[in-house]
Amino acid sequence: MTGIQAGGAGGFPWVRMRRNRRTDWSRRMVREHSLSVDNLIWPVFVVEGTGQRVPVASMPGVERFSVDVFVEQAAEAERLGIPAIAIFPATPQELRTPDGEEAFNPQNLICRAMRAVKAAGLKIGLIADVALDPYTSHGQDGLVRDGYVVNDETLQALCRQAVNQAQSGCDIIAPSDMMDGRVKVIREALDAAGFSQVQIMAYSAKYASAFYGPFRDAVGSAGCLGTGDKKTYQMDPANTDEAVREVALDISEGADMVMVKPGLPYLDIVRRVSEQFAVPVFAYQVSGEYAMLASAAAAGWLNREAAMMESLLCFRRAGASGILTYFAPEAARLLQR
Ligand code: PBG
Repeated sequence: MTGIQAGGAGGFPWVRMRRNRRTDWSRRMVREHSLSVDNLIWPVFVVEGTGQRVPVASMPGVERFSVDVFVEQAAEAERLGIPAIAIFPATPQELRTPDGEEAFNPQNLICRAMRAVKAAGLKIGLIADVALDPYTSHGQDGLVRDGYVVNDETLQALCRQAVNQAQSGCDIIAPSDMMDGRVKVIREALDAAGFSQVQIMAYSAKYASAFYGPFRDAVGSAGCLGTGDKKTYQMDPANTDEAVREVALDISEGADMVMVKPGLPYLDIVRRVSEQFAVPVFAYQVSGEYAMLASAAAAGWLNREAAMMESLLCFRRAGASGILTYFAPEAARLLQR
């Protein structure tokens, strides 16, 4: 016990972890990770019409905007310093077909939304998913042949969708479909069409998750998918080595950035990927995660601001470069204060 007694007049414990935590200035001084507005990407839902702000029932506080309102919201996000917006269209049911041809329409909702933001002179980055689920009548991300989502034929469709979006001003193409080989063929298609500067943020480790439920309500694909699932292409939540392989493949095929999705339940994957690869790693705090936090806060069971900021900081601690989060504008406003 001599060592312990050598602790000086105060005696044991001489190592006092709480010393550094005693004052606010000291806590700030030893803080290891931080959250900035630069780390926030805002996913936004767009709908047809004008002057529309349509609440998403399963995501309290989240609204779908018509293109005109969306442009105002994008301007506000830019003013707040949010670097980029990820746009998701709620496609009218009558435009959905088995092969999702609306994805190639230069006048489709997401293309009009992106052109409107560019026409308004905004500088905020525009991210658009590549996957057919907003446009297919069955709600799957790819083409279905004999009951199976086929890979190689889907790749051709994804390339056309990516080029269509790039032509409308998309800055970052985000393949969220989980088809094999898509990053390489999309990169080639973009380059061939003259879009060698358009970036690719690959949803590399995207899991077949129950936490996407509210998103599917928001974009109107839940009913299309019915009792179907995406387990033949999205990853099994039980796997982690497989995520590393997926990320390695996407990087080798030309991804500029990779993503892990969902977020909080998958921080172990964020940690592994960010340690193993020298590439920006993003995490998606998905709709179900938002719904849990927002509804618990609405019931008075959680402090909304505190839980929101803690959850976002935890992504940074796990190694994420940035977070796609429905909280982005709210968090940005808090960070501004
Ligand atoms: C489309 C897509 C989904 C999400 C983002 N892009 C849904 C899905 O794969 O079924 C989910 C985002 C969220 O839940 O917030 N492929």
